[in-house]
Amino acid sequence: MSAENHSAPATEHDPVIENTPNGPAPKRKRARAAIIAGVAAAIVIVAGAGFWVWHEQPSFCGAICHTPMDNYLATYEADLNEPTCDKWGNEVENPRTMLAAYHGKLGNTCLDCHIPTLSEQIGEGGAWLAGNYTFPLTERTASELTEASGRDADELCLNETCHNLTRDDLYEKTADMGTYNPHWAHHEELECTTCHKAHRASVMYCTQCHAQAEVPDGWLTMGESNNLVGVKAPSETAE
Ligand code: HEC
Ligand code: HEC
Ligand code: HEC
Repeated sequence: MSAENHSAPATEHDPVIENTPNGPAPKRKRARAAIIAGVAAAIVIVAGAGFWVWHEQPSFCGAICHTPMDNYLATYEADLNEPTCDKWGNEVENPRTMLAAYHGKLGNTCLDCHIPTLSEQIGEGGAWLAGNYTFPLTERTASELTEASGRDADELCLNETCHNLTRDDLYEKTADMGTYNPHWAHHEELECTTCHKAHRASVMYCTQCHAQAEVPDGWLTMGESNNLVGVKAPSETAE
């Protein structure tokens, strides 16, 4: 997928005009060439705009790149009230615990969370065409997902359009979560994606050491998360 079809109307350099053997082209021919070029440019622009609109739709990702994107689309489209599968095919008891499924129902699209840069898209498109990626894909963290667009990792979730909060606000909002409040940096500041997963069930990380930490309905303990098929994906990265 490249952006090369945004060519400018080419009246000046139209071959019909340049190749005329006997001096400048007759006016009518020239006008017709200009019309043809204009129509061609309009088609390219309209097709390009159509492509862009389609590209903004979640279905685009799966329609173009069946492998590896189908599973991501499926988690996004999952019915919140039915057990479903995660991106690796593990059963998910409560799809609400997958951010993509939950936020999809709130009207967010793939590109609301995955703000793409052009170079990222070209890079990913190239890697896809060349088959130069591991499948299953290596799981990304918030900092990896925000790096290319120059955002801070927290801005994946904490930003004006999504959760217009600071970490302190978030802690206060969830202050009733008890001793092992996951939003309190008792040990260190964790990325949101350490616990909140988008395309698989979310994980209560603190259970790795604190068995008594509360695990919300449908969430996984660290032990359960470590046993998922796919979690230990091939570590050699493609990119
Ligand atoms: C609510 C935000 C959100 C939405 C909406 C969302 N994603 Fe994601 N996506 C994430 C997060 C967070 C990760 C990190 C891995 C995870 O949590 O599963 C991720 C990871 C990915 C990855 C990287 C591979 C991996 O497993 O880490 C791909 C590819 C991807 N998403 C595709 C999509 C597609 C396609 C859609 C729409 C059909 C989509 N995402 C919708 C948040 C989102
Ligand atoms: C250590 C694990 C962990 C980390 C890290 C974490 N969360 Fe949470 N978060 C949870 C758990 C557990 C819940 C409760 C979910 C439930 O009850 O369904 C929650 C709930 C939430 C809620 C819903 C709160 C409400 O209004 O009830 C929001 C919003 C949220 N987290 C945002 C974030 C953001 C943003 C970050 C990163 C800055 C983050 N979380 C980091 C575990 C975590
Ligand atoms: C790698 C293991 C490990 C993880 C993961 C871990 N903790 Fe701890 N935590 C400890 C140890 C060891 C202590 C006791 C020593 C100390 O206070 O640092 C402790 C102590 C605590 C205490 C003081 C009360 C007590 O039980 O002793 C709180 C509160 C706490 N942790 C919260 C959390 C939260 C919230 C998370 C998840 C965001 C978390 N911890 C994740 C190892 C861990």
